[in-house]
Amino acid sequence: SIGFFNGEFIDIYKAVIPIEERGHQFGDGIYEVIKIIDSKPILLDEHLIRLENSASSILLELPYTIIEIKGIIMEGIHQSGLKNAEVYVQITRGVSPRNHLFPDVSASFTMTVKPSKEIPAQYYLQGISTITLRDERWANCHVKSLNLLPNVMAKQIAANSGSFEAIQVRDGKVTEGSSTNVFAVNNGIIYTTPLTSNILPGITRQAILQAAKYTQMKYLEENFTPEFLKEADEAFLTSTSVDILPIRSVDGKLIGNGNPGRITLELHQAFQRLYV
Ligand code: PDD
Repeated sequence: SIGFFNGEFIDIYKAVIPIEERGHQFGDGIYEVIKIIDSKPILLDEHLIRLENSASSILLELPYTIIEIKGIIMEGIHQSGLKNAEVYVQITRGVSPRNHLFPDVSASFTMTVKPSKEIPAQYYLQGISTITLRDERWANCHVKSLNLLPNVMAKQIAANSGSFEAIQVRDGKVTEGSSTNVFAVNNGIIYTTPLTSNILPGITRQAILQAAKYTQMKYLEENFTPEFLKEADEAFLTSTSVDILPIRSVDGKLIGNGNPGRITLELHQAFQRLYV
């Protein structure tokens, strides 16, 4: 593993970040998580475009060009000595005496390159259980903001009830998981929540829709209710960390017969063929 802070590679577990770093004090920043397989970043350009969009949404000027950021990521992978890894990139509004107003300093750039979290094989073979809960987040969920308190709370509530993920519901419609996008399959059609400021435009979500197109599956980006999800033939979650994870149950209700569905498995294979 290796860390990076403002121009220097550092030991993740020895590094000290200044107390008045705005990431600490205000959560005033944005981030990306990128998966590395066989030393190759998956969908890197897509992640960096979203990083630029997040930065511009919060009026933050990136401290490096996208080309420079790519260089730092590639050098980080090299220095980590890891072939399979997860890169975390965080950009905040910098280090400055605490004051709500934007400081007149350059943004901070922090990166870690660490081994990917292990996802038990059984999750893919049997599917995972989920709960639904009220989406309590702000009005700009399309920004990959550091402010993850509602997401952290939701994930922990799910874990406390023995579930893997909390599926959030706003105005009677499914938005997304605490760290995943949500899909339902009904009568052979794939449904996922449309891109609005209510959800993060997941890179894996988009890649799965591309995979569906290439394999001539039908999909609709449409809002759906938790009841629709519970009655679906199949359902799954997507994210950089998990790729596609079949949903076994929602609030205790089995999806189909509970086992991963055919379309879910086909999409997972197509995704790996196309992007990994
Ligand atoms: N989670 N929705 C939210 C709220 C997320 O935090 C994430 C990412 C996603 C999936 O986006 P993508 O496919 O681009 O990773 C959706 C990161 C990866 C994580 O928790 O590790």
